[in-house]
Amino acid sequence: MKNIYLIGFMGSGKTSAGRALAKKLGLRFADTDLLVQKLSGLTAAGFIKKRGLKAWRKAETAVFQTASALDGRVIALGGGIMPTKTLEPLFRRSGITVYLKCCEDGLLKRLTGSLERRPLLGDSPVCLRRTIARLLKQRRPYYEKADLKINTCGLTPAQTAARIAEALEQYENYPHK
Ligand code: S3P
Repeated sequence: MKNIYLIGFMGSGKTSAGRALAKKLGLRFADTDLLVQKLSGLTAAGFIKKRGLKAWRKAETAVFQTASALDGRVIALGGGIMPTKTLEPLFRRSGITVYLKCCEDGLLKRLTGSLERRPLLGDSPVCLRRTIARLLKQRRPYYEKADLKINTCGLTPAQTAARIAEALEQYENYPHK
């Protein structure tokens, strides 16, 4: 059974919905941010501050490549891992990709209190809306390549997990609960 990859912008609920989905379907869960943290001893924010964004991209991509060799896992990917030209074949080969889509107002609300943990967003709440809009514009075309798209605005993790499970019913060999 292929993996289930959850992709999307920071704050879209990948980790919390991913955990809920794994529990619901009786599958194992992994999160690329946490896997890098386990290997490096640094949180994503700490890693980026200390070693830079380029090193972070390399580390999270390596972790994604390793995790893609497993199967039947629910894997929440850091917001910077997307089906880009280089990674799209790996996404397609090894998993079903689900884009957790959240409106900009929803993201703003969810991210306002967590700037310290997200160096890419800067430290000014005043500029946050613009930063979100700029990054989303760059990333949306890649996120949109996902096999499934789920709108998470206003949903709890359990509700998001239920929507994903429902959408997965069209695939054979997936636990349907
Ligand atoms: C990033 C998202 C973060 C983390 C890092 C970079 C991004 O993960 O990987 O801070 O570039 O969007 P979450 O999407 O889990 O917050």
